[in-house]
Amino acid sequence: MTDIIVISGSPSKHSRSQLAANYAGKLAAEQGLSVKEISVTDFAPEDLIYARFDSPAIVEAGKAINGAKGLIVASPVYKAAYTGVLKALLDLLPQDAFKYKPVLPIMTGGSPAHLLAIDYALKPLIANLKGEPLQGVYLCDHHINKENLDQPVADEETAARINTQTNQFIEAIRRNHAASAVK
Ligand SMILES: Cc1cc2nc3c(=O)[nH]c(=O)nc-3n(C[C@H](O)[C@H](O)[C@H](O)COP(=O)(O)O)c2cc1C
Repeated sequence: MTDIIVISGSPSKHSRSQLAANYAGKLAAEQGLSVKEISVTDFAPEDLIYARFDSPAIVEAGKAINGAKGLIVASPVYKAAYTGVLKALLDLLPQDAFKYKPVLPIMTGGSPAHLLAIDYALKPLIANLKGEPLQGVYLCDHHINKENLDQPVADEETAARINTQTNQFIEAIRRNHAASAVK
């Protein structure tokens, strides 16, 4: 089983939120955790549109999420919230799919106008799936350099915010792991 699953909610091919989430995933991998990405674009559109709970791809994604110790959930802001296609995917997961899992939310937006979308939209969705959301990171488009895949987070202050949140996320995973070992 993979330690951390990155769930990327952008339908865009060259996605900023995906780059930011994978940057956090890379930091976690550097600390010895295994990381795998699941993107909404991995699924047949029909699976999502027709809510095919029994699609093998959806079932497999659910198993990978169930077996993970923590999740990074990323979405661009679309109309002041997460994307519809991310919701379409998460709707197909069991009700407590994120139970006991620390979840690092990451959102990107065209401007800072919707930075609270992470608090009023994405975190409640994570909590509804029984996940344990961290503070999370909101980035504006200009914070991400799509040309530099190794270091897509363009400025130091933003990279530091992702670093801090990723470290807290890993600490939460290790705390959960230590607590479950004691039981
Ligand atoms: C359909 C659509 C709706 C959007 N709505 C918003 C919005 O309400 N607020 C905002 O700040 N940015 C909005 N944006 C801009 C995206 O959130 C932003 O460019 C984001 O970084 C794109 O991420 P991605 O490359 O991962 O898809 C919107 C973009 C699209 C395509």
